[in-house]
Amino acid sequence: MKHDAFRRRILLLATSLTLSLLLGCASEIPERSWTIDARRYAVAADHVDASQAGAEILAQGGNAVDAAVATSFALAVVRPESCGLGGGGFMLIHRPGAAPIALDYREQAPARTQLDLYRDANGRLDPARIQRGGLSVGIPGTVRGLLHAFEHYGSGRLTLAQVMAPAMRIANCPLPVNTHLADSIDRFRKACADQPTLKKRHRELYHVLFEDDDRPRTHIDRSSIAITLEAIADRGAEGFYDGPIAKAMIRAAKADGGILSQADLSAYRVHEVRPIERTCFDHEVLAMPPPSSGGAVIIEALNILEAIGADKIRAAWAIEAGQPIDAAHGANVRFGDYTHDLIEAMKPPFADRAKRLGDSSPQVEADVARMIDPARARRIANRIDQDHAAPWTQYNEGAAASDDGGTSHFSIIDADGMAVACTESVNLLFGSRILVPDTGIILNDTMDDFALDTATPNAFGLRQSERNLVRAGARPLSSMSPTIVLKESEVRLVVGASGGPRIISSTLQTLLNVVVGESRVDDAVAAPRVHHQWLPDEVRVQPGISQRLRVALRNRGHTIEERADIGHVQAVERLADGKLRAACDPGKGGRPAGE
Ligand code: DON
Repeated sequence: MKHDAFRRRILLLATSLTLSLLLGCASEIPERSWTIDARRYAVAADHVDASQAGAEILAQGGNAVDAAVATSFALAVVRPESCGLGGGGFMLIHRPGAAPIALDYREQAPARTQLDLYRDANGRLDPARIQRGGLSVGIPGTVRGLLHAFEHYGSGRLTLAQVMAPAMRIANCPLPVNTHLADSIDRFRKACADQPTLKKRHRELYHVLFEDDDRPRTHIDRSSIAITLEAIADRGAEGFYDGPIAKAMIRAAKADGGILSQADLSAYRVHEVRPIERTCFDHEVLAMPPPSSGGAVIIEALNILEAIGADKIRAAWAIEAGQPIDAAHGANVRFGDYTHDLIEAMKPPFADRAKRLGDSSPQVEADVARMIDPARARRIANRIDQDHAAPWTQYNEGAAASDDGGTSHFSIIDADGMAVACTESVNLLFGSRILVPDTGIILNDTMDDFALDTATPNAFGLRQSERNLVRAGARPLSSMSPTIVLKESEVRLVVGASGGPRIISSTLQTLLNVVVGESRVDDAVAAPRVHHQWLPDEVRVQPGISQRLRVALRNRGHTIEERADIGHVQAVERLADGKLRAACDPGKGGRPAGE
């Protein structure tokens, strides 16, 4: 493998150097605004090179799915801290005139998974074992997911090599370390300072990120991932799930105590499922079913808000936004009602998440049906007190919370109105921290999205039910919430986010800002947000939330905690005149692309 890889690398480097000279290294294109208007198509990813990779494929006649595949492969190169070939994800596809599709290519627990593997020498469950390193690695799903999407829903007008070309090109350019990556590297540096064995344990990753004198690099060499990309372009999924790349992944996981096997990689399959579809606030919402919790939680919250009264919610939104409202709708609506209702509408579904959700199963499906039932939402809405925050005990059924880590979302609308919402992850920043030698692959640590037991929280502070206990062959519950909103069957908004449990609340609020508040999508994405996940029983608010609103919330009994980021949202909206507007959350530094 090593010798072969070396020869291929020299060849690739020579080709790419020529290409780079011809085309220039994409990252060096001057930074543009985080929002754009477009006439025909638009891509909003959390890195400019990835948005441009998708736009390049759309310009060549590809459809939204071809562009999504190109964007995702590019993200695998430029967002090693957030997602990539060693991770997994969900892709939601809207096809004009045809049924929508949801692809689940979430990581899966290896066949040899056993709870006892996560016990320390004294037999106690040890969260550190599932949070990082070999035993945190789930079977990666991204490559099978992307190839499945490309083969079944791509335009058929482009080859896989064409769609992967932008990623290959970028892989051979030194990757400039932008703010988010620098921040992620700094967190790894701090972890190594706290725990000196980490530097040696994760030396492959350490040497890519740091100079020999321990200074963080200003440019990262991602050229080894070009070898993996080339193997996939040549041999399809087998280039990744079998042969030298697969062997290298298994070896790297095993060297760090992992149990990933060739049988696991060979048996991994994409699950093609029907999205959750519901009409809320006069729009049809397409959302991700389990093992995502995002769709059920977002729709339950929307149903509760609608049951409180769509007109009231619209008026309350307008009052908080400082907009004039007509007396008929504004009577009895006070400043602060909108955010109060929003927070109260988040608590019950987050409690449901903790109690009821896990990998897809008949019981989970039945409970999702209950969660999204409008009649149940009306009963919940009737119990919401307009003057007082409900204590968490009112929904005492389970638990949840923490930091932007290893996730990336992108949204695409193409010239024919086809749309893709895609969220992918390696879980925490740099996943398991295992960088597979000579492949550029960073293995995920998504096993930590399982619960070890119903009392021990995971890295996000989430406690969950027995339905999400770690078990062989299952896929862990996720907060990733790719979402598409249609108006009269045409796409209106494509939206999603990164940020752990805050993915759900940030996606929900952006959707409400557009659909209820009629905000422009760039304003909707940039607006400060709040987050409540039932437990801990507190509202996180971003610095931009006004003093007046904080006072209004405190007066209703909410406990307020400040938090810099509440999710990083990437969204594209189709405006009433058919034009597109794309926006990348200023908090993560992405830039949209389109025409
Ligand atoms: O699927 C999940 O819910 C987590 N693996 C997401 C992790 C995440 O969003 C980290 N932050 N950006």
